[in-house]
Amino acid sequence: MTRVVVVGSGIAGLTAARHAAAGGCEVTIVTKSTVDASATRYAQGGIAGVMFADDRLADHLADTVAAGAGLTDPDAASVLVSEGPARIRELVDLGVIFDRDEHGEWVKGLEAAHSYPRILHAGGDATGAAIERALVAASRGIRVLEHAFLVDVVTRGGRACGVDVLLGDATTPTRLDADAVVLATGGAGQLYAHTTNPAVATGDGVAAGVRAGAAVQDLEFVQFHPTVLAVGAAFLVSEAVRGEGAVLRDARGHRFMLDVHPDGELAPRDVVARAITEAMARQDGRPVVLDATEVHSVDAAERAAFLAHRFPTIDAAMRERGLDWAREPVPVTPAAHYLMGGLVTDLDGRTSVPGLYAAGEVARTGVHGANRLASNSLLEGAVFGARVGAAVARDGDTAWPVPRAAARRLARSVGTTLMSRGELQQLMWDAVGVQRTTDGLRRAAHALAQAAVPLRAGATVREREDENLRQLAALVVEAALARPASVGAHTRIDAVDAAHALEGAA
Ligand code: SIN
Repeated sequence: MTRVVVVGSGIAGLTAARHAAAGGCEVTIVTKSTVDASATRYAQGGIAGVMFADDRLADHLADTVAAGAGLTDPDAASVLVSEGPARIRELVDLGVIFDRDEHGEWVKGLEAAHSYPRILHAGGDATGAAIERALVAASRGIRVLEHAFLVDVVTRGGRACGVDVLLGDATTPTRLDADAVVLATGGAGQLYAHTTNPAVATGDGVAAGVRAGAAVQDLEFVQFHPTVLAVGAAFLVSEAVRGEGAVLRDARGHRFMLDVHPDGELAPRDVVARAITEAMARQDGRPVVLDATEVHSVDAAERAAFLAHRFPTIDAAMRERGLDWAREPVPVTPAAHYLMGGLVTDLDGRTSVPGLYAAGEVARTGVHGANRLASNSLLEGAVFGARVGAAVARDGDTAWPVPRAAARRLARSVGTTLMSRGELQQLMWDAVGVQRTTDGLRRAAHALAQAAVPLRAGATVREREDENLRQLAALVVEAALARPASVGAHTRIDAVDAAHALEGAA
């Protein structure tokens, strides 16, 4: 029986684990916090998929490819959209209750850069939480090790053969042997001073994968979500709010997105994040505002009731911060949200290291290109999680396909200057954020090369996370320097910028 260790317990990890178990594998899920603590549970907007008779797979594919700014892998995107509906129905079978209207039909949600309102949501804006709950319940029966931190993927003869993990407060790793290892550790929003991601998103899987010899690609493509509340702790305000008609205004009350893109506030996410950043620069860094005061009804009380019903989680966050968003515009800024790049995989999640698979945000399947389409991330976790689970069960000891890309070398820190996590996050925000310059990137590369994280035997989880962040930050900067022109979420403001110039003129 194939022994599989799945690292991570969001939608990709739990789906991979279930499908591998269904294929007859002996599965252990390893997760660094509790089983339900992942970025999945914070996903608000929903899950995109072709679920309505008048929608078309070809349109979802075209939207996905267009958002990716020319760098989407069409085969991967085609798998994503064509297998999406079956995976969404599987979630329904597992008990996820997507919201329905008074006629019993699924409510159609619209988000940026979708040509059709194909986003299903649950609990208004608590889609990820509903999915995570259902998947955790469906995974009972699979062995789960909580508070188990991935130290490294173990390889023998170039093949993954297990993982070393820190269990609980231990500082000495425990080895878990396996025939196959699936990394589903999510993203790395904690690279940045401002992020929508939970504290667990420290890029552990990408860093461990690279240390094991896996190839990475597209790390320069970090998606910045345009609208995060700029009052109190960073809090995501779903794109679905703009899908319901909320607009963005600068300090003069001007609806600046209309000057930038024909789709206004529903332009692709990278375009909106960039326009907000530019608007903020014009007003000395002050946030822009999201104006929902004309959404749904001219009557403020009716509007307040609608917003509370449609977006209960966001509404509660507004009230906690003393904001009355039915009656007044609220301040928002962009924040790091999603890593499009990651460990290079084929369509079944195989990385360039035999026996090592990746699924979800940690992977670079090519489905997102240079900018992910809204609500395609839960879909990716479901579709590619299932494919990985099935492949693990099928592959056994069979020969591994030829790697598609060369692996990167990744050195342990050798510098002499201590850099705290906060300093690293601020450096990344300032120099490797929404807008990048050659000088800024070089400065970041130099500072990171000088940075030392004293990773000793017996290092704590926090210290190991810091080292993962430093290693990944260096790779992101290297990738950003290697791409001198702007594309998608990667904006070089000192580069000749044909694509963005065209967007601006559109
Ligand atoms: C949102 O609800 O705006 C975020 C959804 C996503 O990242 O796709």
